[in-house]
Amino acid sequence: MNKETPDQHYPAHLAEQQRRYASALADGQRLLIASGALKYAFLDDHSYPFKVNPHFKSWLPLTDNPDCFVLITPGEKPLLLLNQPEDYWHMVSPDPDGYWVPHWEIQSIKSFRDAGNRIGDPDSLVFIGEEEEMARSWGITEINPRGLLASVHFDRAYKTDYELVCMQEANDRAVAGHLAAERAFLSGSSEFEIQQEYLSVTSEREKDAPYSAIVALNEHCAVLHYQHYDRHAPAQSLSMLIDAGANMNGYAADITRTYTAHAGIFADLIEAMDKQQQAVIQDIRPGMNYIELHENMHRRIAGLLKSFDLVRMSEDEMVDSNLTFTFLPHGLGHLLGLQTHDVAGFQQSRDGDERAAPTNYPALRLTRTIENRHVFTIEPGLYFIPMLLEKLSQSPGASKVNWALIEELKPYGGIRIEDNVALISDRPFNLTRQSFAVESA
Ligand code: GLY
Ligand code: MN
Ligand code: MN
Repeated sequence: MNKETPDQHYPAHLAEQQRRYASALADGQRLLIASGALKYAFLDDHSYPFKVNPHFKSWLPLTDNPDCFVLITPGEKPLLLLNQPEDYWHMVSPDPDGYWVPHWEIQSIKSFRDAGNRIGDPDSLVFIGEEEEMARSWGITEINPRGLLASVHFDRAYKTDYELVCMQEANDRAVAGHLAAERAFLSGSSEFEIQQEYLSVTSEREKDAPYSAIVALNEHCAVLHYQHYDRHAPAQSLSMLIDAGANMNGYAADITRTYTAHAGIFADLIEAMDKQQQAVIQDIRPGMNYIELHENMHRRIAGLLKSFDLVRMSEDEMVDSNLTFTFLPHGLGHLLGLQTHDVAGFQQSRDGDERAAPTNYPALRLTRTIENRHVFTIEPGLYFIPMLLEKLSQSPGASKVNWALIEELKPYGGIRIEDNVALISDRPFNLTRQSFAVESA
């Protein structure tokens, strides 16, 4: 079978976008969405990397074009106001080309403010973007209305076929990078060299990736959002935790793998975690709440702590006393899509009502009921974090912990395994494992 490509599904995606946004607008309203503007460092004339407004890129695969707008009039062809300023300092956007172009009316503008002359009656316009003051100066009063945002944010969790294909391609791209990173780790490279290798294979600049990659060796694996890249390889590379993604048409992949170069208990623990992670995924069905999955994973972590003789307590006791939190102090996962931690993970309906994370798991970012076409991550961890172990050592459960084994494992830092999962036709489909299977074939 030929591989599906985004262009096949773009027209249906655009129609669904029209439907979702129109249903959230009042009769006669139109919608203006800004792509965003470059931001400059304090007292400097150099900008931060550009991050496009996710609402803008949900309409078309333009992710690196500041100062543009889309103008949506329900029932009409959408309009792109493409900024093509007179500028010999920078590369000006060429006229766009690609499968999406015939579906748009495209007008060239010479500056962000130039758009103000093209938008028509401001009374009928709703504006989505950061440039609230500018919108007000054009006479627009409906700016980032909460009701409209809640409605389209809620719907964003349901991926169209176009979005699923983009996310599969983002996974393919990231997985090629992960395989290269694994090779670099096994050959003794430094964190910095591994990161460079990853970017070279995914063909993304750091600023193009959906998030700053974590490339951690040895005890650095225990820092949840480790943010450095050591230039020098350690004397001995025991373990690597790499959390690195890629984008495709503005849709993210968010993948973590943990490796060790040596056979032994840490390698066995990685393998056992991998099995538990896949078992949680396998059981996912529509109608489950994500909190159930998170709790289920804590029970599985308790099982691992017991079977590896790390903690000598019953699984129930470990979960009930929150001991597993020491080893898994983050959430099991989050919605994924236009943003790495996509919006509306707590939202329970289009109206915007929210369900907070349970008090004993405050870092959980997803409390929704899982439904078909949702895409989310499943990323359990099992870490040896000195600060949290220190607290555990002063808790009532301390005497049940096998501290000698913990000390043995601390130099490895910890484990996290993260896949991107879509629920399709009532069954989980693992986009990440699909990419690994194809790459390794
Ligand atoms: N890469 C960020 C996360 O896994 O949530
Ligand atoms: Mn991640
Ligand atoms: Mn994640």
